[in-house]
Amino acid sequence: MRNVPLSSGRRPWGSLLLWGWRLEIALTVSSLIVLAFSEEIGSGGPAIVLALAALVLKVRPELRKDLARHMLENRHERWIHGAFWHCAIVGRNGDVPRVNRSAPLPVGRRYLISLPPGLYGEALANRCPELAATLGVREVRVKALPQSARYVELAVIWSNPFPQSIASPLLRQRHTSLWQPLFLGVGQDGLPVSIGLPEHNLLIGGEPGSGKSVALSTIVGACALDPSVHLTLLDGKQVELAAWSLVADEFVGSDLDEAVQALEGLRDVMDERYATLMATRRRKVGESDPEGLHVLVIDELAFYLRGGKKESRERFAELLRDLVSRGRAAGIIVVAATQKPSHDIVPTWIRDLFSFRLAMRCTSSDASDTILGQGWAHQGYSAASIDPTLRGVGYLLAEGGTPVLLMTPYLSDDDVDELALRSFEQRGGV
Ligand SMILES: Nc1ncnc2c1ncn2[C@@H]1O[C@H](COP(=O)(O)OP(=O)(O)OP(=O)(O)O)[C@@H](O)[C@H]1O
Ligand SMILES: [Mg+2]
Repeated sequence: MRNVPLSSGRRPWGSLLLWGWRLEIALTVSSLIVLAFSEEIGSGGPAIVLALAALVLKVRPELRKDLARHMLENRHERWIHGAFWHCAIVGRNGDVPRVNRSAPLPVGRRYLISLPPGLYGEALANRCPELAATLGVREVRVKALPQSARYVELAVIWSNPFPQSIASPLLRQRHTSLWQPLFLGVGQDGLPVSIGLPEHNLLIGGEPGSGKSVALSTIVGACALDPSVHLTLLDGKQVELAAWSLVADEFVGSDLDEAVQALEGLRDVMDERYATLMATRRRKVGESDPEGLHVLVIDELAFYLRGGKKESRERFAELLRDLVSRGRAAGIIVVAATQKPSHDIVPTWIRDLFSFRLAMRCTSSDASDTILGQGWAHQGYSAASIDPTLRGVGYLLAEGGTPVLLMTPYLSDDDVDELALRSFEQRGGV
């Protein structure tokens, strides 16, 4: 890494102190001007001016809010600037990074920072633990901004983003649309993390008890509450997805031959859809098309790929590969969960076709890499580093970005039963 002068430099008193207190100084100077001219405008003048100012603030709540927001932002700005000084985080000219804007986060606050010459994002990121200790907060993170290397986003986190459990928003919803972003969980900054499932497939992996089936419930719930979505459910354990069988076109338990038949049926649906798309001169199934999305959900994928007769499991693997690779434009989505998707369990040629990956806690960085892809653990994104007491936390890798740590919402058995019944009613069931 490049050597950057982070620990020495002079303090530009003017820019730090005066700029940081600009609003307060402006208000004080205005009051002094009023006082200075009090003789000209009479002894009651200042009182009248102040009363008028108070009246304006009273009748214009938006001005009041603006003033309060400015004062809050100034206070935060001074707080962050102070920490930069205490940690001697300065550029080549001795200037500290400047806070341009800030905005609240559910568990802290984020700041748009412009870096002085000689300082760059990675160097600032390396000082995050020191900044967090100086500020007395849980964590400080730096995110590079694609627009310009001169700016970074600094997230200061002071509350726990991952509580014991997160309530599922599905419980408040009467119906959903799978064409809209699907809420998958809450990220490290407390903000919601969503994915767009159409035209994607999702693979979930992780050690036993890490929260794969609960994550699947969230996805199946969002699918079930959209009456236009068809569901095919395969569950090697039977009990995890059984509650949703009420709303599924097909539910298969621990029977490999039945699972092969279900995939054959789905492959026929896919071929029919492509024939219809050809006939109607369309390239893919869209939101307003009558076909609707068809979601294949598989829990305990390894059961179907490793169990039963060799001939059946090879047939299963081939059908799955076909659905994952050709299903996109036909509106067929595959979501699968497995404990360890290593090549001896899930063939690499199937695993690599899943564009979205969710790695719940794993026992080793190698296991994490088998889910997210080679090299992520080395870059600091390893699901083995997740606290084992935190269930439902995992790294989501979506569409070529960097993995994002999130916690999925929790659905109890009663919640699942309630949602399944609600979905059944939405679909016209009696
Ligand atoms: N998002 C979550 N929030 C809170 N608790 C969770 C969450 N996800 C899972 N848990 C807890 O962890 C337990 C195990 O979760 P789950 O059954 O989903 O694990 P799994 O990864 O599917 O395990 P297995 O591989 O054995 O099937 C749940 O019963 C629940 O107590
Ligand atoms: Mg499970």
